[in-house]
Amino acid sequence: MYRIAVIPGDGTGPEQVREGLKVLKAVAQKQGFELETVTFDYGGEYYLRTGEVLPAGAVDELRRFDAIYLGAIGHPEVRPGILEQGILLRLRFELDQYINLRPVRLYPGVETPLAGKGPEDVDFVVVRENTEGLYAGSGGFLKRGTPDEVAIQTSINTRKGVERCIRFAFEYCRRRNQRKKVTLCGKTNVLTYAFDLWERVFHEVGAEYPDIERDYAHVDAICMWMVKNPEWFDVIVTDNMFGDIITDLGAIIQGGMGIAAGGNLNPEGVSMFEPIGGSAPKYTGQNVINPLAAICAAGMLLEHLGETAAAAQVESAVQKVCAKHIKSLAAGRMGYSTSEVGDLVVSYL
Ligand code: IPM
Ligand code: MN
Repeated sequence: MYRIAVIPGDGTGPEQVREGLKVLKAVAQKQGFELETVTFDYGGEYYLRTGEVLPAGAVDELRRFDAIYLGAIGHPEVRPGILEQGILLRLRFELDQYINLRPVRLYPGVETPLAGKGPEDVDFVVVRENTEGLYAGSGGFLKRGTPDEVAIQTSINTRKGVERCIRFAFEYCRRRNQRKKVTLCGKTNVLTYAFDLWERVFHEVGAEYPDIERDYAHVDAICMWMVKNPEWFDVIVTDNMFGDIITDLGAIIQGGMGIAAGGNLNPEGVSMFEPIGGSAPKYTGQNVINPLAAICAAGMLLEHLGETAAAAQVESAVQKVCAKHIKSLAAGRMGYSTSEVGDLVVSYL
């Protein structure tokens, strides 16, 4: 029996999560384990109603679950940044979810904007540091609002934070057991302090993994290679900001936000799984949004719980639905409604 905290969130988040839970419950029944879910209605509506983003004690309550399943955060009537910082980033930081794991995998039947590339070419994972870097919130203003204004935002890179992220990448690469290559994505030619640390730790830790090839690419170059030669990559490890940017590129080459999922991992604590896309408020309640990203996030959640057979079942069901049914991953153009896509995935479990 696993206890899962569910935060459906805003806009189409609840519709996506509904289908993810449908699949989770179906696969649990087949595999013989149970899921108890507790729903938390945090998000834009909650904030507008109560004036607070998360109530006191919420983080500690969430800490006690086996995993967190998140829909999407973002409300048209709430100023951008409030919910993202108050929910998503706060949970990542306070729950010390120091890895953001983002698989970039093109499924058969899914269209990619990359000419001449297919599923055998696009299959890698980005390990993004998730608690430090430019996201740490270090900085401030001087003389704000005056012509002499100075704004400073500092990238924080700790030895501990960098090392645990890089170690995770090598461990994950070994477990993945594919091309056996970890690529460090940085900017050593300009960010000569931060990425000097990253590079030193990369080679130090990497030396403990003689079975794994080490590779390096600057972040700007990796954007080119991800488009031109995605087949080069197996595991990419990078800092928080670069990871944010290159995983949107990753999402589009795997077919878009309709399929891209991620996990915010604390391997020693509670982890949180989410579709990477936003809340797509204009489609709310229409049953047209694509739930596959949320279903893939549910698959990652199962993998993380150690239910590898169930995770593999979800993954293969999603692959079949993509290969045999879905016309387009875009909302309203799938050829099926949101709930029908969930039913299709269940039918292939
Ligand atoms: C993501 C998102 C978030 C981030 C935003 C919403 C704060 O873009 O999960 O990639 O920048 O990390
Ligand atoms: Mn992002």
